[in-house]
Amino acid sequence: MRNDMARILISAEQIATRVRELGARISADYGDTDNLLLVGVLKGCAMFMVDLARAIELPLAIDFIAVASYGASTESSGVVRMLKDLDTDIAGRHVLIVEDIIDSGLTLAYLTAQLQRRNPASLRICSLLNKPERRIAEVVVDYLGFDIPNEFVVGYGLDHAERYRNLPYIGVLKPEVYMG
Ligand code: IMP
Ligand code: MG
Repeated sequence: MRNDMARILISAEQIATRVRELGARISADYGDTDNLLLVGVLKGCAMFMVDLARAIELPLAIDFIAVASYGASTESSGVVRMLKDLDTDIAGRHVLIVEDIIDSGLTLAYLTAQLQRRNPASLRICSLLNKPERRIAEVVVDYLGFDIPNEFVVGYGLDHAERYRNLPYIGVLKPEVYMG
């Protein structure tokens, strides 16, 4: 797998440090509530979600939602569809959406609109990565790990055609790997 990488963008150590910082900020900001619900956006959130949850020193619950985004391609279709809804009724809950990466912003624009209608007490977004150059839909990111350049990245939950999610770092894939 290492041979498919053009370079490592964010090391496992850098990720761990940033996750601890985010966990501390979230713990401070939500210190008054025993009502926090982390909503992970499958499947890319998986590694970030479990590490972040352990870095938050508050009582919390977790749930997951799945939406269709890219399929095997590296370009967004612009069409967002819900594949798996939450198990939890979020009315009156403090909801923090946990995402791997914000690219066009279309996924989160759709998700926040859907979840806002269910009357949560609050709704915020925590994303590990952000590609600001690619934004189409405006999204306010409350907690962000790293801004990254407009390159296709994999690892730490992020995939290309379902591969590379288990890499402990974030790497830039060699273009020939996805250009074929
Ligand atoms: P958006 O709707 O364009 O913001 O896309 C968000 C989703 O696209 C993310 O949750 C990822 O699943 C996927 N995505 C966007 N950029 C990348 C990337 O560089 N590597 C892997 N997946 C990506
Ligand atoms: Mg995703």
